[in-house]
Amino acid sequence: HPRLQFFPSTPLLFSNMGVLQVVGGPLSQQFSQLGTFSQIGVAVASFLFVAVAINVLQQFLFKKPNEPPLVFHWFPLIGSTITYGMDPPRFFKENREKYGDCFTFILLGKKTTVYVGPKGNDFILNGKIRDVNAEEIYTVLTTPVFGKDVVYDCPNSKLMEQKKFMKIALTTEAFRQYVPIISDEVTSYLKRTADFKGKSGIVDIPPKMAQITIFTASHALQGKEIRDKFDEKLADLYHDLDMGFSPINFMLHWAPLPWNNRRDYAQRTVAKIYMDTIKERRARGETGAQDIMWHLMNSTYKGDIPVPDHEVAHMMIALLMAGQHSSSSTSSWIMLRLASRPDIMEDLYNEQVKNLGADLPPLTYEDFAKLPLHAAIVKETLRLHAPIHSIMRAVKTPMPVPGTKYVIPTDHVLLAAPGVSATDESYFPQPDLWEPHRWEKDSPLAPTIVRNVQNEDDDEKIDYGYGLVSKGANSPYLPFGAGRHRCIGEQFASVQLQTILAIIVRNFKFRNVDGSDKVIGTDYASLFSRPLEPAKIYWERREGCQL
Ligand code: HEM
Repeated sequence: HPRLQFFPSTPLLFSNMGVLQVVGGPLSQQFSQLGTFSQIGVAVASFLFVAVAINVLQQFLFKKPNEPPLVFHWFPLIGSTITYGMDPPRFFKENREKYGDCFTFILLGKKTTVYVGPKGNDFILNGKIRDVNAEEIYTVLTTPVFGKDVVYDCPNSKLMEQKKFMKIALTTEAFRQYVPIISDEVTSYLKRTADFKGKSGIVDIPPKMAQITIFTASHALQGKEIRDKFDEKLADLYHDLDMGFSPINFMLHWAPLPWNNRRDYAQRTVAKIYMDTIKERRARGETGAQDIMWHLMNSTYKGDIPVPDHEVAHMMIALLMAGQHSSSSTSSWIMLRLASRPDIMEDLYNEQVKNLGADLPPLTYEDFAKLPLHAAIVKETLRLHAPIHSIMRAVKTPMPVPGTKYVIPTDHVLLAAPGVSATDESYFPQPDLWEPHRWEKDSPLAPTIVRNVQNEDDDEKIDYGYGLVSKGANSPYLPFGAGRHRCIGEQFASVQLQTILAIIVRNFKFRNVDGSDKVIGTDYASLFSRPLEPAKIYWERREGCQL
């Protein structure tokens, strides 16, 4: 009876008096305590009532015609935080139907303007540096985790140079070396993990994919020496770093709470491991290595300024963490989708047999050009399950929205949600259906971008200082973002995901435990969305399994 408790002079409360008398002091004392409580209760209720009334009146009486419509909400500060947080894609869809492509909602007291669709993505992601700013939003979360002077703890021009350095190690030549490394890691993981022992079994797949992702990424990107440390203490330290990314830290990043203390200790310890390695490598007088750390150690900022050791260390942390959540969640979704569509898993197996040979030889980077369905699996999974559902920017100068009367003021935050156009029927027929074959040109479900070939080559390209990137201005499909903050890990992620996929497909058949075609829901509680857990699937070894 929550309502009754706000109004204590009701029979319900008095009927409880007998109980109070038994456990408490004299009745008169309890009455006076009760009086104080009820006065506080009445005061709080009245305050809330007035606040809600003013908030509602304001929304009806003081509409600003040159600002996007505001999503109706009862409570000030809280605004739409809860409905947004529970299911952001549904929130975007429902409010887009009510208010159009551009609308504002209150997120933890902040006016947050969403602009969806290709025009919205372009407006926000390709916004000019004087108009929009990412670091102001993200730095509170990322700087304590990555460390100082990198990514969002430096001017954007410096980040552009850092992205250029990081990209040097993400070349075709490097990918050729990574495919066998990743294959071996996956194979050895599947051989030694108890959950995959025997002929068949049931496994909660997301934790396994998280481990496979960190082992493959750390080995490929950071070398064997660092990879081996993940079997010891590094995995725990990265886990503690990870906890720094909880959304609550947007507000409490500074607080001396246990998880923040562990985050700070982990940051110092991991950075020291990298810095010690750098010193040893310099002392050895090593030459000609090709790994990322080596490239970063030997890069120079404009004006021939070498990259300080602590920045190299912090970039190493940033690179590993940037990829971990997104690749781990994507690989879990791939496995869950395959379990819901065993027919597609067979198509993948047949694609490998047909194009690589019945003996399924060790994978090479070149093989992926012959496995278009494997690439389509990654594409289609990212279309429905892009791990980053909201991309935010601070507004630095009032921004007129072309073709409308709106001007976004500087006290708003902008939010791009490329997932909305990726699931929009006008671009993707039967948008909610996971159908990797739709990426084939002749498929009746082919997206308009495939059919009308508004493809990457026609797309406008731009160089922000780390190589040419597509502006993606017309594309409804941008799981890797666009503009100056666009992902540099796309090719690595795609090599990593396709290799993991190919190895699993050649060894296992998956299906849902109940044999259905259902797929588990999405967990939006952390910054990156991922499957709800536990997410169990049934696996069975193939005949001729190579493990
Ligand atoms: C940026 C998605 C994997 C490194 C981004 C952005 C998106 C994204 C949407 C833009 C963020 C923004 O505009 O605020 C993904 C997805 C991945 C993935 C879906 C995998 C499926 C990786 C990997 C790496 C990586 C493996 C590293 C090897 C980065 C970096 C940025 C970035 C350095 C730039 C941040 C900036 O400039 O502000 N990613 N990413 N990502 N990603 Fe990825």
